[in-house]
Amino acid sequence: MKDFTRRRFGQTVAAAAALAGSSIPGFAFGQTGAAGSEADHDSGRKFPDGFLWGCATAAYQIEGGAKEGGRGPSVWDVFSHTPGKTHNGDTGDVADDSYHLYKEDVRLLKNLGVQTYRMSISWPRIFPEGKGQPNPAGLDYYNRVVDELLANNIAPFVTLFHWDLPAALPGGWQSRSTSLAFSDYAAYIARQLSDRVKHFMTTNEIACFTDLAYRDGSFAPGLKLPLKDVYQIRHHGILAHGLGVQAIRANAKGPVQVGLAENAQVFVPVMETEEHIRAAQRATRVMNAPFLTALMEGKYIDEYLHSIGSDEPRVEAGDFAAIASPLDFVGDNVYICNYVSAAGTPTGFEIEPWPSSYPRMYSRWITISPECAYWAIRNVCDLWHPKAMFITENGTPSADVLTADGRVADLDRVMYLRNHIANVHRAAVEGYPIKGYFLWSLMDNFEWDDGYSTRCGIHYVDYKTLKRYPKLSAEWYRELIKRNEVV
Ligand code: NOJ
Repeated sequence: MKDFTRRRFGQTVAAAAALAGSSIPGFAFGQTGAAGSEADHDSGRKFPDGFLWGCATAAYQIEGGAKEGGRGPSVWDVFSHTPGKTHNGDTGDVADDSYHLYKEDVRLLKNLGVQTYRMSISWPRIFPEGKGQPNPAGLDYYNRVVDELLANNIAPFVTLFHWDLPAALPGGWQSRSTSLAFSDYAAYIARQLSDRVKHFMTTNEIACFTDLAYRDGSFAPGLKLPLKDVYQIRHHGILAHGLGVQAIRANAKGPVQVGLAENAQVFVPVMETEEHIRAAQRATRVMNAPFLTALMEGKYIDEYLHSIGSDEPRVEAGDFAAIASPLDFVGDNVYICNYVSAAGTPTGFEIEPWPSSYPRMYSRWITISPECAYWAIRNVCDLWHPKAMFITENGTPSADVLTADGRVADLDRVMYLRNHIANVHRAAVEGYPIKGYFLWSLMDNFEWDDGYSTRCGIHYVDYKTLKRYPKLSAEWYRELIKRNEVV
């Protein structure tokens, strides 16, 4: 209660200070007929100085070059080549061919004016067998990408594992030794890249490469195992993260910032009153128990242990010390949320069902609820007080149509992004330590089981020619970055 009051007070002061301190660059208004110039117009939507803007991608989704430079197969190569697993049988064999076109992709980033780029490294490009002998040609590719980014003043934020697990690792995430292999891989990358890369993320969305891959079977390797096995696999996932943090810190050549990119479930209070706000916080803690909560609290909380009963995973001595390794930042991929109310249930909250009329984006899973970006930050910060947070992904598919003159007017994507970023702004001016935002994605790419049927990029990719075209959303994002302000 006291904390709550202090925080609100701090937020008010911070918001006032941020607004008072905002200075707007002196562009003249265009042909809008608006009175005055932008110099004397304070939109109140300026971000703090030094806020980092970026775009995000992942190796398997953009690189292609699946068999080049000594790369070994990942579980996604095997899965996507198995009939019936992805839309239309699409694979990442070629994807956006960023393996060859990376310089062009850096030019796209440069043109947007981003300060940062979130990319991932393909583990089987570095260790074709998952462990053992590293592949120098694989590392060379990332050396070239990192150098090209730095030459253009773009800071790489590197994710070590964005789902492309080396297929050669026996049992995949069912085996504890995969967590240990991940730690060796993380150590190697830290030794090789930390002279130039200063921000590392261990894993991306642990629930996706555990639950979706081994419980639901919709992601590689496509298994539907009993829940007891799934709980063990989740444990290996969070253990890999923890061992990875330790390995990066122990092997980095200089100071680096280490975090991860989670997709913590977001809960928005049905109304902003204290009881519902507290319910949203409780829901955040309980519903993320196997993942972010375990990392932040160094244990499986009672609610989780109670729900899994005798299927509890085997936890070895020292596991939680690694899992709870202090982080420099928490990254969260934010797309969707649930609304919650306070309730007299044992957990103290109730998740509201979606009315069938609730609006959605051009997606089977993305509802229109932009305030999730604010609550994603606030719930995590109020619960666990991380040193810093980043939105490591946010974006949406839309039914993009490339016109004959090379334009894509993706108004719905701009609407989605603008509203989410306005909510990130709210968190920033209230004093939450949100330091940057990565838009998913720089360009259309291989959207996992949806293949190429779903386009999430702000650059349109013509998959026949591999030519990239900036969409309206790219022009919009460029303007926002230039002004450091919601536009
Ligand atoms: C989250 C994942 O990290 C990314 O790989 C995926 O493409 C986006 N969500 C959009 O679904």
